[in-house]
Amino acid sequence: MRIGPYDLPNNVFVAPMAGVTDRPFRQLCKRLGAGHAVSEMAASNPQLWHSVKTARRLDHDGESEPVAVQIAGSDPAMMAEAAVFNIGKGARIIDINMGCPAKKVCNVLAGSALLRDEDLVARILDAVVTACTPHGVPVTLKTRTGWNRANRNVLRVARRAQDIGIAALALHGRTREDLYTGTAEYETIAMVKAELDIPIIANGDIRSPEDARHVLEVTGADAVMIGRAAQGRPWLFREIDTYLRTGSHHAPPSPTEIRDLLLEHLDDHYRFYGEFTGVRTARKHIGWYLGALAGGPAFCARMNLIENTREQWQAVADWFDHAIEQAPDRLLAA
Ligand SMILES: Cc1cc2nc3c(=O)[nH]c(=O)nc-3n(C[C@H](O)[C@H](O)[C@H](O)COP(=O)(O)O)c2cc1C
Repeated sequence: MRIGPYDLPNNVFVAPMAGVTDRPFRQLCKRLGAGHAVSEMAASNPQLWHSVKTARRLDHDGESEPVAVQIAGSDPAMMAEAAVFNIGKGARIIDINMGCPAKKVCNVLAGSALLRDEDLVARILDAVVTACTPHGVPVTLKTRTGWNRANRNVLRVARRAQDIGIAALALHGRTREDLYTGTAEYETIAMVKAELDIPIIANGDIRSPEDARHVLEVTGADAVMIGRAAQGRPWLFREIDTYLRTGSHHAPPSPTEIRDLLLEHLDDHYRFYGEFTGVRTARKHIGWYLGALAGGPAFCARMNLIENTREQWQAVADWFDHAIEQAPDRLLAA
C-alpha cells in the first residue's frame, strides 16, 4: 500500500476520530499493527492554531513516519495555508476531511456538508494540492458517499479529486444525512474503486478480521480503515493484518497483556495531557478497554470519581491484578 512516496507497512488503517486518535493512541495502534494513522482534525482557521487543544494536536513528537494530519474548513486559501502550516509542524501527508457530519463542522460548510458544493470542493482540493506539491507532500481526501441518499455524488467528487492530484481516497459508506445510523453500504465504494486509479480506502462498520476481508472482497478497495471498533481494542489491527495476510487468527490478548497495554497507554496519555486533562480524558479510554470485561463497567463507575492520575493508574492496575488472580478466564467471558 502506497500513498505518494510512502510505502506503508500494511493496508489496515486507523480512522481519524476527534478526541480519540490523539498521538498516544495513534502510536499504540501503529505499534500493534496499524499501517497508517491520520491525526484528529486540525482547524484551518489560524486564530485557533494557538489554542491548547490545537497545539496538542500539532505535537507529533516521536510519532512514527509518515505523520499524517487532517485539516478541515471551507475556505480554499485558508485550507492551503493550514496545510503548509502543518507541513512546517512535521506533517508528511495532508488529509482533507470532507467526511465529518458534526454540527460544529457542518454549520460552517466544512466536513461532509461541502459535498453539496462540488465546485467549492474542487477549489479547496486544488488549493491544497498546489500548496503541498512543492513540499513533496501528498494530499489524501476522506469523505462520505454523498450529502444524502438522493444525492450520492461521491463518484463525481472522486473523479475531480483524482484529476486534481489527490493521492488516495478514504470513503465511509454512509451519506452525511445518515450520520451513524443504519449500516454502512459498500456498493458505492465498489463503484468508486472500479472507476478510479488512485488507492481507495474503505471505511464503515468494520469490527473484525472477517469484516475486513469481506469489505476488501466486495469493494475491491486497497485498504480498510477502522474507527469505533478500535476504541479500547488497539490490538484489533494486528488481528486484522494477520488474518488478511495468512488466513489464520492472531491469538487474542491475554488479560495480562490487556492490563499491560492499558497501563502503558495511560502512562503515555498522562505525559501527553498532563495531570488535570489527563485524568479526565483517560476515563473514556479505560471505559472502552474494560467495557467488554467481566465486572469492568461496575469498576469504571467507581473509577470515574478518582481525580488524580496516580490513583487512577493504581486503581486500574489493582483491579486487573485482583481479577487475574481470582479467575483470568472469567474476565474475558463477559
Ligand atoms: C468519536 C468520533 C470522532 C470522529 N472524528 C473524525 C474526524 O475528526 N475526522 C474524520 O474525518 N472523521 C471522524 N470520524 C469518523 C471516522 O473517521 C469514521 O469515518 C467513522 O467512525 C466510520 O468508521 P467506523 O465504523 O469504523 O467507526 C469520527 C468518528 C467518531 C466515532
